[in-house]
Amino acid sequence: MPSSIIAGVGHYVPSNVVTNKDLTKLMDTTDEWIIERTGIRERRYAHRTEETTTTMGIEASKIAIKNAGLKNEDIDFIIFATLSPDYYFPGCGVLLQRALKMQEIGALDVRNQCSGFIYAMSIADQFIKTGMYKNILVVGSEKHSFGLDFTTRGRNISVIFGDGAGAVVVQATEEKGRGILSTHLHSDGESAELLAMYNPGTHANHWTDVKYADFNNAELADMFMSHAMIDKAQNFPFMDGQAVFKKAVVKFPEVIMEALGKNKLKKEDINLLITHQANLRISQFVQKTLGLSDDKVYNNIDRYGNTTAASIPIALSEAFQSGKIIEGDIVCMAAFGSGFTWGSLIMKW
Ligand code: UT7
Repeated sequence: MPSSIIAGVGHYVPSNVVTNKDLTKLMDTTDEWIIERTGIRERRYAHRTEETTTTMGIEASKIAIKNAGLKNEDIDFIIFATLSPDYYFPGCGVLLQRALKMQEIGALDVRNQCSGFIYAMSIADQFIKTGMYKNILVVGSEKHSFGLDFTTRGRNISVIFGDGAGAVVVQATEEKGRGILSTHLHSDGESAELLAMYNPGTHANHWTDVKYADFNNAELADMFMSHAMIDKAQNFPFMDGQAVFKKAVVKFPEVIMEALGKNKLKKEDINLLITHQANLRISQFVQKTLGLSDDKVYNNIDRYGNTTAASIPIALSEAFQSGKIIEGDIVCMAAFGSGFTWGSLIMKW
């Protein structure tokens, strides 16, 4: 059975740096609060009109494909993870396929928010192991700056998120003992509404006073996105930060230990841990729980904020570029977020 290695990795972040101080001009917040509670000092925001989730994903993909020593036509499947797609539908995968003039290959979008990249990697791994594909492009990209509430009302969310993209080429190898050792995926929908963007959506909350017989286009449009929804800020994401935090600090170590246990590895065997960059306090809590030294953990949330599905591949790309990962290293990745969904991946590089 083939194994999945990461043959190439790349990332792209917009050039526009937005500091905490910049945000204080828009809302009641401070540089001190943001650093103390999240560890974030600055983030990147994509160009309003010239950059999209797909265009950033394309830039990251070009680097990953080049680093793998491949051409666009060598890719035989695309998996694109994002919560901030260019269009409501179709997904970003096909836009990337078109832009990179790839063959008429399959393109799948994954909507698992913060754990999207881990889910996407797990899917890629299964396709490689069954022998169906040889080179799969996995992308995580987000343009959060497009849909955040930049008033004081939305400050608990808007200060956290940033834009960017990362990509990897997952490749089949017959070499034994290398590549992805296992992936572990979980969900608990009990708290689905605690970190969510409800609209536009088909949920019933705003249907109660409308009878089927009364339907007309104006009413339907109103249910999709009404002025009332916008007035109540229901077009922005909602997050109960403390509830997410409390669950995250339990599930991160749990799913990392699950990956280690499955492969009969010990915490000390990890050469590099890359967790989804949700909040520096969460990452530090996980590091402490596992007893890992600073050189075994990679964090970049101070520079990019939380880039959701893009955060792990951006960190992976930076860590690889700076020589923090070498062949034979045990690299563990883990994510937790909206859903709640969480997961881990462990590999021998
Ligand atoms: O990647 C997706 C998964 N998401 C996460 O993992 C996020 C997890 N949660 C968190 O990172 C943290 O809960 C936050 C950073 C979102 C918030 O930090 P916190 O320490 O949990 O603060 P809090 O929500 O308990 O709010 C404390 C206070 C409140 O004021 P009062 O009620 O004590 O007067 C908030 O209104 O801080 C206030 N606050 C702010 N103050 C200044 C909330 N946001 C801000 C802000 N600037 N940006």
